[in-house]
Amino acid sequence: MISIKNEQEIEKMRVAGKIAYDLLMSLKDIIKPGITTKEIDKYAYDFIVSRDATPAFLDYEGYPASTCISINDMVVHGIPDNTKIKEGDIVSVDTGAIYKGYYSDTAYTYIVGKVDKKTEALVENTRKALYEGISKVKAGVSLNEVCSAIGKVGRENGYGIFEVLTGHGVGTTLHEDPYVPNLSNHESEGIILKSGMTLAIEPMFSLGTKEVWLLPDEWGIITQDGSMAAHFEHTVLVTDDGYEILTGE
Ligand code: MF3
Ligand code: CO
Ligand code: CO
Repeated sequence: MISIKNEQEIEKMRVAGKIAYDLLMSLKDIIKPGITTKEIDKYAYDFIVSRDATPAFLDYEGYPASTCISINDMVVHGIPDNTKIKEGDIVSVDTGAIYKGYYSDTAYTYIVGKVDKKTEALVENTRKALYEGISKVKAGVSLNEVCSAIGKVGRENGYGIFEVLTGHGVGTTLHEDPYVPNLSNHESEGIILKSGMTLAIEPMFSLGTKEVWLLPDEWGIITQDGSMAAHFEHTVLVTDDGYEILTGE
């Protein structure tokens, strides 16, 4: 069942979304060589709590932190630890806030210093895929229009598109129906978007394989061939005229 949010609920999701967005934007000045991922996570925890919200990931199915920080070949769900950020890394930070019971979920991949052209393009194109997908969002449109727009960017660039990692509905829990895959698929074809649905759209691509390994910590997910991966995510509201990005300005 895909939930439809009313105006009061949407207003809470706007607040939750703005907090997570502001946090990710402020991390641009925080993510520098030498800082550990745990220090970044502490900054995120303090930031969210100072805005009268709760970190959405903390204790979610036992997850131990307020962010997922995934470096280079790690795709998603990196648990913050004593790893130091270094020059040439790409660092994806995924975070969310709960405000009065309503969730946001958003991710951004930061380039630290200089990276090679291919890696830079991967980050740029993954971000582009997010906005291509979002541009299709509108009441009455099939969800597969969104999935297929994202997948097209991945396919045209020859990137690995992870079939086992998808976007999702979001609202009173972090993960709700429907799944939002990052490529065209039959399941999404039959889902027609309605005004008031809220979706976490989140392209993830690699420079190589679409196959992943789960780390022994049972959270971290890495590419099987060690290739670089990027991830961008927004929480998006479906409207009659199109969409509103809830994790935006
Ligand atoms: N935010 C992730 C997603 O985009 C899920 C993180 S689950 C957690 O769907 F437990 F690791 F936080
Ligand atoms: Co997320
Ligand atoms: Co998500």
